[in-house]
Amino acid sequence: MFNSKLYIPRAAIIENVKELTYDTRLYKVKFKYGCKCDSSSENDYRPGQFVQVSVLGAGEAPISICSSPTEKGYFGLCVRDTGLVTGALASLKNGDELGIRGPYGNSFPIEEIRGQDLVFIGGGIGLAPLRSAIKYVLDNKPDYGDVIILYGARAKEDIVFASDLDEWGRTEGVKVYTTIDEPQQGWTGHVGVVTTLLDKIKHAFKYKAFVCGPPIMIHFTIKGLMDAGWAQQDIITTLERHMKCGVGKCGHCYLGGKYVCIDGPVFTYSQIDALGIEV
Ligand SMILES: Cc1cc2nc3c(=O)[nH]c(=O)nc-3n(C[C@H](O)[C@H](O)[C@H](O)COP(=O)(O)OP(=O)(O)OC[C@H]3O[C@@H](n4cnc5c(N)ncnc54)[C@H](O)[C@@H]3O)c2cc1C
Ligand code: FES
Repeated sequence: MFNSKLYIPRAAIIENVKELTYDTRLYKVKFKYGCKCDSSSENDYRPGQFVQVSVLGAGEAPISICSSPTEKGYFGLCVRDTGLVTGALASLKNGDELGIRGPYGNSFPIEEIRGQDLVFIGGGIGLAPLRSAIKYVLDNKPDYGDVIILYGARAKEDIVFASDLDEWGRTEGVKVYTTIDEPQQGWTGHVGVVTTLLDKIKHAFKYKAFVCGPPIMIHFTIKGLMDAGWAQQDIITTLERHMKCGVGKCGHCYLGGKYVCIDGPVFTYSQIDALGIEV
């Protein structure tokens, strides 16, 4: 754990902030002080986990870690400016301070899927948590099979991690397909919502599929995968709920008998179905 004291944020410094789109930024974050309470470091997390990020005077928000533990000395957060805390984060610059609690939640089953072929399907900023797993897999590529990445954004100016998508597409054993919702001047790639790319992976129904994005995207993507023959337990997704504590105490994220902050945010579709949750 980054911090063994539940509600005490640990001081962290923004080492670098990069604008990914007009409303979304990528923060490279480093702890301000070494932690005497335990042996935690910036890399002590698993892909799929999140942290509670606090900005003095604004509050706290759960944000997925978008880097891979294989990247040493910092961790990455990709934040879209949608409100009070994320708006306050948007005004921070290199060298500014924030608070970090966590990492929290379960994670993608990244060890259990060694040797398997994988499909990652992201919509919008949903690529952020997937990026952690994708980078981990690509940094350990000999341990994994083929990788296919499908990514959809509303428009070309909404594409996050464009340079990563390019780089991944040039990697052996990796195929990347990107789409935007509507035709746009200067865009020669695929057009249509991300489910229109599912044709590209019809043959891949034995692959493990990871799906992250807005609720409507998750709904139709899972439906498309099921129609194409995927087994429920081979579809892995994340659930997003309003959170306060992040540690199973306040009940804000309670859903179908589970706390999304500690039992999730990662669930297989078979788990979701068994809980009677509609996605
Ligand atoms: C596990 C988890 C991981 C997340 N990872 C990321 C990430 O990597 N990057 C990122 O930009 N955002 C992420 N989010 C969403 C982010 O936490 C919310 O957008 C954030 O809490 C908004 O805080 P705010 O104070 O800026 O907005 P507020 O001022 O609190 O709210 C702005 C608007 O967003 C709505 N909202 C707030 N929280 C949520 C939520 N959880 N789901 C749906 N709507 C919400 C509010 O109802 C309101 O309409 C994640 C959420 C969860 C639960
Ligand atoms: S956020 Fe408090 S119980 Fe999950």
